[in-house]
Amino acid sequence: EKSECVSLSPMREAVPAPPECERVCVCGTGDLGRSLGLRLLQAGYGVVFGSRRPHSSSSLIPHGAQVLGHAAAAQSAHLIFIAVQREHYDFLVPLANQLKGKVLVDLSNNLRKNQYPEANAEYLQSLVPGAEVVKGFNTLSAWSLQNGPSDANRQVYICGESVEAKQAVMAVATKLGFSALDRGFLSVARELEDFPLQLFPQWRLPLYIATGLSAAFFFYLLIRDIIYAYVTQGKDISFRIIVSLANKVCPIVSLIMLSLCYLPGVLASFLQLYRGTKYRRFPDWLDRWMLCRKQLGLLALGFAFLHVLYTLIIPIRYYGRFKATEHTVSVIRENRTTEFDTTTAWRGDSYLSLGILGFSLYVLLGITSLPSVSNVLSWREFSFIQSKLGHLTLLLCTAHTYLYGWNKFLSSSTYKWYTPLGYMLCLVLPSVVLLLKLLLITPCVDRTITRIRQGWERRADQ
Ligand code: HEM
Repeated sequence: EKSECVSLSPMREAVPAPPECERVCVCGTGDLGRSLGLRLLQAGYGVVFGSRRPHSSSSLIPHGAQVLGHAAAAQSAHLIFIAVQREHYDFLVPLANQLKGKVLVDLSNNLRKNQYPEANAEYLQSLVPGAEVVKGFNTLSAWSLQNGPSDANRQVYICGESVEAKQAVMAVATKLGFSALDRGFLSVARELEDFPLQLFPQWRLPLYIATGLSAAFFFYLLIRDIIYAYVTQGKDISFRIIVSLANKVCPIVSLIMLSLCYLPGVLASFLQLYRGTKYRRFPDWLDRWMLCRKQLGLLALGFAFLHVLYTLIIPIRYYGRFKATEHTVSVIRENRTTEFDTTTAWRGDSYLSLGILGFSLYVLLGITSLPSVSNVLSWREFSFIQSKLGHLTLLLCTAHTYLYGWNKFLSSSTYKWYTPLGYMLCLVLPSVVLLLKLLLITPCVDRTITRIRQGWERRADQ
């Protein structure tokens, strides 16, 4: 069963197929069946719908298709799409003899994982043992079938026991404008049926990391900045939670997550150096970590965006304007003169400029990680941007933070309750990653790594 609820726009008129065209049958006149039927008609197939109540369902059927009872419809074609829910499959049992040797395509999905002991397609095969069951098209929605394939949902997966049956289904998929991928035998059907139920599987770990880091730094800074001021000076500066604290948590989490994108690559290189070969598998945790780098990076970019937006509003904040006016008034009242400090100006401009350059490259990394952009890049271009420019981004953002910290690292008043500032903590990981990367690009290490990547292996006696 398709779990999403779609409202279908009125069916577009399909040109009736010429009499000699290949006929296919679609059992089921629900949203999915009708959308599939329409696309089949548009691709030049003759379509016969099988329905429990052929007379009452014909008003919604795309123009040019025929509606018959299930038995008559199944009789009329070799390829039969089963677009009904699994609970209603028993209508096929009396037709078992008639369906011998025919290809049945199971389009169904479930509402949750492990809803039934076996895959729907395997259940269908057990009901109609003489037919060739192929699982397929279940990752498409009625909506995407009606609107035609786009880049994101061009792929359809199929599986089944019979090679000829799969080829027949793949030919139809290709004619409809999809690219079909044969995933193997019918035992894979369960995996295919679980595909549409997945909810951002690759985003889960990065999301946990982002949430964990944000919560940890939020409470750390809350204690250090707000509670400390309240306990030691009785000052209530809780208003700072909403912008000032957020503008610390966001860049801190962003910088840590950006370094988490580059740490696994560096670790993998050291592992290859240590093992002296590229022909051994990385540990599973490292593999999984490498596979979610894109999601880690995109989330990190989101946090960097928030930091930039929060920074933009600094000049219009009441707190900022009040502080500036108060300073001016006190200078006038005390008849003081203030000297322009060139070092401070240099420092301020430099850290802001580094932030801007870092953020621009950050955005470039994000854009080039999108499939529509990365698809038009060669591997060399892609790895140049993601690796070389990626490390440069990390360097610029780290330098931005170091310069922002400037001499606060040395001042003892920085360490309230003996705790370091939030950004000092967040600088540890990027500094380690950059140092390790620096080691890796030194000529002699780089030479060995390159040889290993080209297939060279260090023998035990070397
Ligand atoms: C702090 C500006 C991009 C990381 C700051 C501060 C400013 C600033 C004004 C001081 C905030 C305050 O006084 O509370 C900018 C601008 C950027 C930019 C204009 C680009 C348009 C970035 C990027 C990163 C980053 C891409 C990397 C993730 C940090 C960190 C801090 C910081 C870690 C220290 C936060 C703290 O006070 O604990 N930035 N930044 N910045 N920025 Fe940026």
